[in-house]
Amino acid sequence: MKAEEVAAYWERNATAWTKMARLGFDVCRNHLNTPCFLNMLPEVKGLKGLDVGCGEGFNTRLVAERGAQLTGIDICEKFLGFARESEASEPLGIDYQLASAGDLPFDAGSFDFAIATMSMMDIPNIPAAVAEVFRVLKPGGFFQFSICHPCFQTPLFNWAKDENGEPVGLVCGDYFNEELEQVLEWTFTSAPEEMKKEFGNFTIPTYFKTLSGWLNMLLDIGFVLERFLEPCPDAETLAKYPALKGTAKVALFLHIRCRKPL
Ligand SMILES: C[S@@+](CC[C@H](N)C(=O)[O-])C[C@H]1O[C@@H](n2cnc3c(N)ncnc32)[C@H](O)[C@@H]1O
Repeated sequence: MKAEEVAAYWERNATAWTKMARLGFDVCRNHLNTPCFLNMLPEVKGLKGLDVGCGEGFNTRLVAERGAQLTGIDICEKFLGFARESEASEPLGIDYQLASAGDLPFDAGSFDFAIATMSMMDIPNIPAAVAEVFRVLKPGGFFQFSICHPCFQTPLFNWAKDENGEPVGLVCGDYFNEELEQVLEWTFTSAPEEMKKEFGNFTIPTYFKTLSGWLNMLLDIGFVLERFLEPCPDAETLAKYPALKGTAKVALFLHIRCRKPL
């Protein structure tokens, strides 16, 4: 699929996604991925950062609030419209630009750091996008990103459940099929039924790499691997947000930080 075709999917998802996420129904993002991601993020105060696949800008804003000067890029105009509305009402100095991750409109060495939250596995040519991030980083700059965990969110993905229908584990498979392009259909499980009915499922083109595929790709492009995290909710968070129960059984997400050598 070309980036423009992927963009068309996101244009269809963006309004419902933004509405539901802003009402707090993206529980995995709000109460697991983002807190863990920010916890692992180095000091960014005074630095120039790029957010690749920024969506409606939720995480872009949080990183900008830490004192960084952020540029957010996305291929979806609608998401950028929502992000710019937020910037206009509560300015954080964020510049949002329509661009594809595989062809970044920036000079080499433009940024001190880059982030990408849950976007890199949605990009058709992942190595080209990572190479672009490498190019636009200054030597010594870091790239921190979160993805669906390659070992557990495999093309074949089914929960094994107990007699009460509670998830106890995962049936995974087709792990080595790196050529596969899947259009996943899902919505935020915590959203009310009427909202799910009104908006229907998101449809999301997704791409797969093995764990060694991801890590060797970063090394081949020239990054030095620095830090990893597999977010898992603590007991208190789990009690408050039962929708996270699957994320306490297996690692559904993987966060990686790597650095361009000096
Ligand atoms: C799952 S959303 C994540 C959005 C946001 N980072 C967040 O954490 O809420 C994935 C994002 O990747 C964007 N995306 C997909 N392919 C892209 C590409 N080639 N270049 C830039 N953004 C892309 C989509 O438009 C979408 O906004």
